[in-house]
Amino acid sequence: MLVRPEQLWTEKYRPRTVDQITGNHAKAKEVLKWIEDWINGKRDKKAILLYGPPGTGKTATVHAIAAQLGLDILEVNASDKRNAESIKNIVGAASIQASLLSSKIRIILIDEVDGISGTEDRGGINELIKILKSTVNPIIMAANDPWSPNLRSIRDLCLMVQYRRATPASVLSILKKICELEGVKYDEAALKKIAEASGGDIRSAINDLQFFAEGVGKLREEDIIFSGSRDRTAQVFEALKQLFEAKNLDSARTAYNMLDMDYDMFFKWVAENAYLHAKTPGELENVYDYLSKADMLLSRIIRTNNWSILKYFILFLTAGVSFSVTDKYGYKKYLFPSWINLLSASKKKRQLVENICLKVKVKCHISVKKAYSVFLPFLKIIFQNNTNKAVKLAEYFEFTDEEVNWLTGRLKN
Ligand SMILES: Nc1ncnc2c1ncn2[C@@H]1O[C@H](COP(=O)(O)OP(=O)(O)OP(=O)(O)O)[C@@H](O)[C@H]1O
Ligand SMILES: [Mg+2]
Repeated sequence: MLVRPEQLWTEKYRPRTVDQITGNHAKAKEVLKWIEDWINGKRDKKAILLYGPPGTGKTATVHAIAAQLGLDILEVNASDKRNAESIKNIVGAASIQASLLSSKIRIILIDEVDGISGTEDRGGINELIKILKSTVNPIIMAANDPWSPNLRSIRDLCLMVQYRRATPASVLSILKKICELEGVKYDEAALKKIAEASGGDIRSAINDLQFFAEGVGKLREEDIIFSGSRDRTAQVFEALKQLFEAKNLDSARTAYNMLDMDYDMFFKWVAENAYLHAKTPGELENVYDYLSKADMLLSRIIRTNNWSILKYFILFLTAGVSFSVTDKYGYKKYLFPSWINLLSASKKKRQLVENICLKVKVKCHISVKKAYSVFLPFLKIIFQNNTNKAVKLAEYFEFTDEEVNWLTGRLKN
């Protein structure tokens, strides 16, 4: 399910001016000065390359500057259009036309330029170099990893500006501000926990905040029980990468093994992101064909308790999907599955899950986080498949009827 961007707090609270860029503020001002110099005819370097970790404000800086100076942006995502022709057509044409049509400059933003670093894209890089040398508009490029050998000649032509991870203190200050604007009450410790888990990625910190805070009266430290979600997200990205880049059956099939996640959730991740790898509608059709087969198998497994067919479910979901698509490599912005479902998960449901985890914690002497990530998936499988065991477990953990209903899947989100 797709989410409208304006529903995301990262979008709602993206910096509107350079002054609102936190942490890398001095860098953003450097970029602003470079653009102002360009407007004034001082053009030592034709392009600038912003580089550094995700969620630190590279793209946000360019948008804030454009808004502040009233300039238009022509935005190309280099990893979407990975060939010489399209870079040439889009960026090349734009950089010449603008000078003919109006005297006003436009900022050309070539985002995720590390996405064109593969050898098949040499042509793309050559085109880019030509454009960098002849452009009449300022070009800003952004990348996470600027050190790939293929980008060497580009680096020489650019002013390099490094963005750094935000410190926990600056992440904290952003989170506080958003809470105030959203009317979310909070314990300082809760926000600190999110800030620390973010590893300096402001985008992920804001996403986490939205996930935990929406629908809650007051955000308490105990609410942040899924703070491992960052690590898990990184792990899923790895697994998806292995799945889609797989060259043989085994490496596709084993992508799932590295994860500590239930089948249903992994299915959702694959279903949400597979389209990113499809080059044609035909490929997409094959993807959905395999997904629906996998989906049917999984519900049959749960209904009949016949786990011997699990291997076919895995095979369809991994190799079936992977070999249906041909756009295998390069950076892909994977999305959390069904953000909307998670965001709209009511406070009540979250409370329910938290209570189950707390009970497991007390009886098993483990952390709530472990109860959530390791025990909960197993409990769900047992409750959905083995009534006798479920009854005993429910007694042992003292689960309420509502909690039991949730575990058996009878209580929908
Ligand atoms: N320095 C910052 N100050 C304030 N908000 C920020 C900052 N950096 C990121 N954000 C928030 O995170 C969102 C995403 O940031 P942005 O798109 O600029 O990241 P990026 O550095 O371009 O990451 P990527 O490398 O993944 O493209 C912004 O819309 C904003 O809400
Ligand atoms: Mg960006």
